[in-house]
Amino acid sequence: MLTPLSRALGICSLGLTAFAAVSIQPRQSSLDTWLSSEIKYARQAILNNVGSSGVWVPGAKTGVVVASPSTCNPDYFYTWTRDSSLVLKTLVDLFRNGDAGLLSIIEEWISSQAQIQGVTNPSGDLSSGGLGEPKFNVDETAYTGSWGRPQRDGPALRATGMIAFGQWLIERGYTNVASSLVWPVVRNDLSYVAQYWNQTGYGNRFPNRISYLWEEVSGSSFFTLAVQHRALVEGSAFSRSVGATCPYCDSQAPQVLCLLQNFWTGSHVLANIGGGRSGKDANTLLGSIHTFDPQAGCDDSTFQPCSPRALANHKVVVDAFRSLYGINSRIDSGAAVAVGRYPEDSYYNGNPWFLCTLAAAEQLYDALYQWSRQGCLTISDVSLPFFKGIYSSAATGTFSSSSAAYSSIVSAVKTYADGFMSIVQTYSHLNGSMAEQFSKLDGSQTSARDLTWSYAALLTANNRRNGVMPAAWGEQSATSVPSVCIATSASGTYSSVTISTWPAISTGPGGLTTTTTNTPCTTPTAVAVTFKLRAMTAWGENIKLVGSTTQLGNWAPDKGVALNADKYTKYDPLWSTTVILPAGQTVKYKYIRVKTDGTVQWESDPNRKYTVPVDCGTTCAVQADIWR
Ligand SMILES: *[C@@H]1O[C@H](CO)[C@@H](O)[C@H](O)[C@H]1NC(C)=O
Ligand SMILES: *[C@@H]1O[C@H](CO)[C@@H](O)[C@H](O)[C@H]1NC(C)=O
Repeated sequence: MLTPLSRALGICSLGLTAFAAVSIQPRQSSLDTWLSSEIKYARQAILNNVGSSGVWVPGAKTGVVVASPSTCNPDYFYTWTRDSSLVLKTLVDLFRNGDAGLLSIIEEWISSQAQIQGVTNPSGDLSSGGLGEPKFNVDETAYTGSWGRPQRDGPALRATGMIAFGQWLIERGYTNVASSLVWPVVRNDLSYVAQYWNQTGYGNRFPNRISYLWEEVSGSSFFTLAVQHRALVEGSAFSRSVGATCPYCDSQAPQVLCLLQNFWTGSHVLANIGGGRSGKDANTLLGSIHTFDPQAGCDDSTFQPCSPRALANHKVVVDAFRSLYGINSRIDSGAAVAVGRYPEDSYYNGNPWFLCTLAAAEQLYDALYQWSRQGCLTISDVSLPFFKGIYSSAATGTFSSSSAAYSSIVSAVKTYADGFMSIVQTYSHLNGSMAEQFSKLDGSQTSARDLTWSYAALLTANNRRNGVMPAAWGEQSATSVPSVCIATSASGTYSSVTISTWPAISTGPGGLTTTTTNTPCTTPTAVAVTFKLRAMTAWGENIKLVGSTTQLGNWAPDKGVALNADKYTKYDPLWSTTVILPAGQTVKYKYIRVKTDGTVQWESDPNRKYTVPVDCGTTCAVQADIWR
């Protein structure tokens, strides 16, 4: 049997490196300057790789996203469901953020995917597993050569990309279009996920370009399950917003989340269960960023980018590449390095990838957004190694955004994240071009040229860096893990869909606006409340907070919580402290002044009263008082 790699070598006469090695020169321009031109290059490069007008991909049908123009060494002149869906999700996010010119390409992609869903292929037909076929020819016909198939992340990612556009249609009043054209295509993919998520298949290991590398691997993949969970959750909400239901989404989503918990080792996230390797793999960084919900808390169960688990894992994965690649060798242990797929990778001798290095940056930008929205940041025992790696005086605790420690930590994380972007800047071509990989030895680009996914990863990371966030997907309603995991599956509905034309859709007036969707959420159980007190004090005096609960010392001055004067100035006599209190609890309290000789002066009556908020998504709150 001819493996895809030998097949590729058999038809190609070129040498192994499609790109001639280039000398890597240090880049002079700042990251900001580079990004402002690189995002334009990246957007155009994606369009160049989409049929039928893409100049790099002659022969590709309308709406077909080609993985790379490279036709040999390696031959990527196909459309992968995974790659094209991730690329389209990026385009939909750009569109939602005001890039109205992308509307037709989004419509054409959906029409083309509806067609491809119906193409009988070696994995099956529409209703017998064919949706799990990893890739198709660029003329939308089936690829019948040998390959690692099926690959079960494709349908989930495709549903997510289409739902992002479908939600926008609904927000703009085009519910009929969402329900008649988008929902039936999405429903096929959700049905596939609900039916097959609990079955193994080839190609669970991201990204499975060359199947023989992974054919011995059977088991479940973190990335696949994470994106399947997300698709089922948002698929259910989408079904309701078009007046339908998705009972198979509702029954399966909690069980997918249940199995996902098995991937946490206590110190990092396993990429695969049943893979036989270290399990350290950028697949896990990709899992976190592609299930990031800007309205989520730092939830461990869904491995949100700011969760202790995902941060601990970030360090373990990045560190796995520090000493592995020659180009990383002179970089300090606390700084960003080039990141590849997994340390055992031998494809093209195993090199860093642009999209993996960008994922390392993106996860951190996502986390920065989550902390700033929540107004605080918590370092736990689990995430401490991550923080210590980049900020040596890091210690466990909850830091309110008004504290000096918070500012220092956040600034260290931002610098670290930008470091990954700067590595991408260094190894991209001077003209902006990015291939799949860059050499671990000298940084020259290698493997497929102009990889569409590399450009999408750059655009998404840049958006997150600039605070442009994707729509929420309902993570807050989907964090509770069933107590017992069961092997299960459910059947949905498959129907063949043909989209011949799209109705006129207006992106005006006043241009597009980003809207955030309201998602149901569970109420917080505890909130970090920062008490701020303005009180002029004499040198040597201290302020404490005492009150009616155990956290506040049950009115006992010696058990009260000491306030911190690190922001105290003669113009702003600020004392503050952060206490974790049960959500919804009403507490009575007073401040006390502890004199240098130990005597205590209480504030005047009456007692102060504070009710801890229970609002959706709240993880911290501030109460400001003046001494009386
Ligand atoms: C950028 O440089 C690469 C490598 O030399 C080349 O293949 C590519 O065509 C260039 N892109 C453009 C738009 O000139
Ligand atoms: C199916 O689910 C059960 C329960 O979570 C789990 O033990 C098993 O490994 C799963 N199998 C696959 C292939 O996902």
